[in-house]
Amino acid sequence: MIAQQTIQQILSRIDIIEIVGSFVKLKKRGVNYLGLCPFHNEKSPSFTVSPVKEIYKCFGCGRSGNTISFLMEHEKYSYAEALRWLAARYNVEIEEKEVSPEVRQQQQVAESLYIINGFAQKFFSDMMFGSEGGQDIGLSYLKERGFNEEIMRKFQLGYSPDQRDVFARAALAAQYNLEYLQKSGLVVVRDEKPMDNYRGRITFPIHNQTGKVIGFGARIIKSNDRAPKYINTPENEIYVKSKILYGSYLARQAIDRQNECLLVEGYTDVISLHQAGIENVVASGGTSLTVDQLRLIKKYTKHLTIIYDGDGAGIKAALRGLDMALEESLDVKLVLIPDKEDPDSYVRKIGAAAFRDFVAANKKDFILFQLEVALKDAAGDSNKKAELVNQMAETISKINKAEDFTRQQDYIRQCAEILRIEESGLHSLVNKFIRGRIEKQESRTAAQNDARAATGESGMGLSDGTGGAINGGQAQAMDTGMPPDDESISLLFRHEQNERGMIRSLLDFGLKAWDEQTSVADYILAECVELYELIDNKRLLKILDLYRSWYEKGLEPTTKSFLYHEDQELSTLAVSIMDLHLEISPNWKDHFEGKIATPEELYREDVLSTMSWLKLRKIKRLMEENQQDLAKPHEGEELMVLLQTHRHLKELERELLRNVGTVIVK
Ligand code: UTP
Ligand code: MN
Repeated sequence: MIAQQTIQQILSRIDIIEIVGSFVKLKKRGVNYLGLCPFHNEKSPSFTVSPVKEIYKCFGCGRSGNTISFLMEHEKYSYAEALRWLAARYNVEIEEKEVSPEVRQQQQVAESLYIINGFAQKFFSDMMFGSEGGQDIGLSYLKERGFNEEIMRKFQLGYSPDQRDVFARAALAAQYNLEYLQKSGLVVVRDEKPMDNYRGRITFPIHNQTGKVIGFGARIIKSNDRAPKYINTPENEIYVKSKILYGSYLARQAIDRQNECLLVEGYTDVISLHQAGIENVVASGGTSLTVDQLRLIKKYTKHLTIIYDGDGAGIKAALRGLDMALEESLDVKLVLIPDKEDPDSYVRKIGAAAFRDFVAANKKDFILFQLEVALKDAAGDSNKKAELVNQMAETISKINKAEDFTRQQDYIRQCAEILRIEESGLHSLVNKFIRGRIEKQESRTAAQNDARAATGESGMGLSDGTGGAINGGQAQAMDTGMPPDDESISLLFRHEQNERGMIRSLLDFGLKAWDEQTSVADYILAECVELYELIDNKRLLKILDLYRSWYEKGLEPTTKSFLYHEDQELSTLAVSIMDLHLEISPNWKDHFEGKIATPEELYREDVLSTMSWLKLRKIKRLMEENQQDLAKPHEGEELMVLLQTHRHLKELERELLRNVGTVIVK
């Protein structure tokens, strides 16, 4: 772990223009720099880097971030790797944080396991290419299946001799410790004697993202009913099955290039496709996908294409995990390989070009696919069909990011059509699931906040332990339970904009004066106490809460406090809120001084206007409630109160409308 001082030192040196400029050709334009976006294909530059704000934004594809997220995205580094890269670049000596003895111990075990696996990989490869048995049995088996030597070397395949303990003896002679050899799964102890675990098998090393071997899949050569086809490494400090995507180390550049990740079941499928020149492919290892695997994919691309054999159990297993893909905003397509083939055999049979065409022509949307399969199952059974409608509504409700809103609408329309039900009915059902989840999430957030308040946790800078409190899916959709129409959709986006505007005002102008005694932050934070429950985007609330806790401690938070926050989601959100257009060109003053106020000078109006928007929302809500009350029968006195309330709210509304200076819908 990198020590906090080191991190601060690195952050203080960062020159975003220099770093981004070493990957992207940048030209100065006003206060900012402009270049061709490295994240999407474009002919005219829309990738903007702001040295003042220390961020980049692409107005073409919408990506934005800070220097660290640039390195993470462009170079696929982890957060720590990006920091280490920067440290090397700026000659900052890395001081490691003191770690607990348990962590230290775990790191040592992990380190030993990497070394043992590396040794084993070489040993098995040497055996396959260099020993008689290896060539006669291992190599010839793979050749017979059509693999060439180049591809075998690329994937570092090997052969574990069919003898009791050749590997164990070699490893022990090289001073490797028996306990770790067992932990690695390479050696087992039988009758108190070490024995090779993968005897007589082809070994497929499994690499992590940086190319180190973390484990093996070992395939039997002669088919044998009693022995499993594959033996896999047991879970240990470095082999965590739920986080492994076989082949990802070799696939990531191709995935980047093609902006698509193909997913197959088996090791041999990955290798065959590579041999055919299709390199953007990874394997899941035949189980349902995990959130961790999906997140790994999402680091490279949003487009996942699952290629499985149609009648296998694999497809069912894969589908099981896929609702999570929606929450991760992944776009998932499905391709089924026909006639008892798998991608390995099929690409051999029809050739690379035909395989590519087949994939392109047979992509199905996975949600609709799921629906079709289930509908066939439910044929004629109305109970089953009702259950299915519910299931689909729940699945669709998981698409809940504001930016995916139209996608959700599309699904509702298409599913309603396939199911032959009223679209509006499905709409309400979807909303019901969304509402349920918001409520759950809110009570969870509240509980978390309580817990945090109780421990007094939080702090300025990078490690305040808030990481990952709320991940992924943000429910930002309708809260009325009515089918959304065009107007409510535009309101939805307006709400989101207002909320962001409020946080942006807080970050940009919080430390400026509001009036003689108070700061803008004082004003906004006080107002927000009442408006709190109106804010739908819970991640924005997290920024608000964090800001409040820092501010109350006497710290002076700014956008930069969030910019390099260790919780990537927070830092990304902060970046996306920042407005590059707000920056004043150095020429501005020369041309317009005294004539036009700069945004900086207009901050009070800005704050007043954003807060008024939020308050209007509150008033609107109160009016709706009042209206509902009015609709019920009432005695004279009660009725008067309600009518007065109505008038009062109307007045407040009028006053607020003056502040926002615009006419709003309704
Ligand atoms: P398959 O049975 O489809 O194997 O299992 P395969 O990869 O196509 O291998 P070949 O072509 O028959 O040689 C798919 C994946 O499921 C896992 C492995 O990861 C395998 O690649 N698996 C399968 C196991 O872990 N253990 C097993 O016993 C079988
Ligand atoms: Mn196969």
